[in-house]
Amino acid sequence: MKAVVVPEFGPPEVLRCDEMPTPTPGPGEALLRIHTSGVNRLDVEMRAGVYGGEPLLDFYFGKEVRFPHILGVEPAGVIEAVGNGVENLKVGDRAMPFSHVSCGHCSHCLAGFDNACARIQVLGVQTPGKGGYAEYITWPANRLVTFTEELSFEKAAALLVNYGPVWFGLVKKARLSPGETLLVTGATGGCGIAAIQIGRLLGAKVIAVSSQEEKRTLLMELGADEVVIGKDPGWGEEVLEITKGEGANVVCELVGAATWKDSCMAASILGRIAVIGSHSGIKTELNLGELFGKNLSLLGITRSDRGGIEKVARLAELEKLRPHVWKSFALTDAHLAHRAMEAREHTGKIVLTVS
Ligand SMILES: NC(=O)c1ccc[n+]([C@@H]2O[C@H](COP(=O)([O-])OP(=O)(O)OC[C@H]3O[C@@H](n4cnc5c(N)ncnc54)[C@H](OP(=O)(O)O)[C@@H]3O)[C@@H](O)[C@H]2O)c1
Ligand SMILES: [Zn+2]
Repeated sequence: MKAVVVPEFGPPEVLRCDEMPTPTPGPGEALLRIHTSGVNRLDVEMRAGVYGGEPLLDFYFGKEVRFPHILGVEPAGVIEAVGNGVENLKVGDRAMPFSHVSCGHCSHCLAGFDNACARIQVLGVQTPGKGGYAEYITWPANRLVTFTEELSFEKAAALLVNYGPVWFGLVKKARLSPGETLLVTGATGGCGIAAIQIGRLLGAKVIAVSSQEEKRTLLMELGADEVVIGKDPGWGEEVLEITKGEGANVVCELVGAATWKDSCMAASILGRIAVIGSHSGIKTELNLGELFGKNLSLLGITRSDRGGIEKVARLAELEKLRPHVWKSFALTDAHLAHRAMEAREHTGKIVLTVS
């Protein structure tokens, strides 16, 4: 099979298309023929060897990278074969893998938080020789979600890793309620559009932040009630003005150090800040006076639990959630897709077409 690999950390041009053995499903596994694969910020960071501005190798999963590394955490395709003992899937089913496998018996898994598993293994990150930038993967059959023809392969590849964690963060952790105000930083990205749509679905007023004026109109068309251009520090003041001094009840932080100070300023008293992404920098300052003075809650989000994944898949089939695909690139043009993401040209999801 063809697979796009990272032979060493470097710029987009290091990505190389290799011929590799097609895997065979073991007991309990399925073989997925990949049609599309989402491009995630994490892929760009895994290729560059830099995570949130710091060396990836200093980060816990950075040490597990083995070259040549296959990227890709969000493929979608069709089941081509199943191993012994698989009953929940059949050949021909349209399916997409959960972004991670979990042990099923640590205290977090038993509590229903498989996304907080002590032994979590994320696809395309901690799965040597296996990732979505390839024609095939094998994956545990009970960690694949099927979907109907109502959902295209392109949209499926834009779904689980963007909408899943945002759903988990906003619904289960931040408990966003109807009538509240949601502030979304990095609103033009895959997760950002997901947050706008989920916020609207939950009955919240959504304020979207982008650093680029040209993206304002599209953000409004995609459902934002207000758009704030956060090119320069201090944009939090505009959020306070829009909310008549109250601030946002929930902040969906998808950028990190570059937006952090304004995100905290723009949070309301008793506000909840859900940190899902930090690619602009994982290290920043925390004003403890602001934290307790405003009774804020800081929430860290990694991936989505099983319930959230199933939920967003069903809502997307019903078109209650509509992943917005900005552009598709051929698998062999993965380097161009990475360039576009790094240049922040996109509004929505970048997808690779595999077959
Ligand atoms: N916790 C989880 O489970 C999970 C899952 C998926 C993704 N993530 C993380 O969530 C974040 C968003 O992911 P995504 O896939 O939506 O990424 P994305 O599509 O690249 O979107 C990120 C957006 O951030 C904005 N941005 C603002 N300041 C930036 C800066 N200094 N540098 C770079 N971008 C800046 C850009 O929008 P403008 O140019 O319009 O400002 C960009 O479109 C990433 O950090 C990713 O790693 C976490
Ligand atoms: Zn576990």
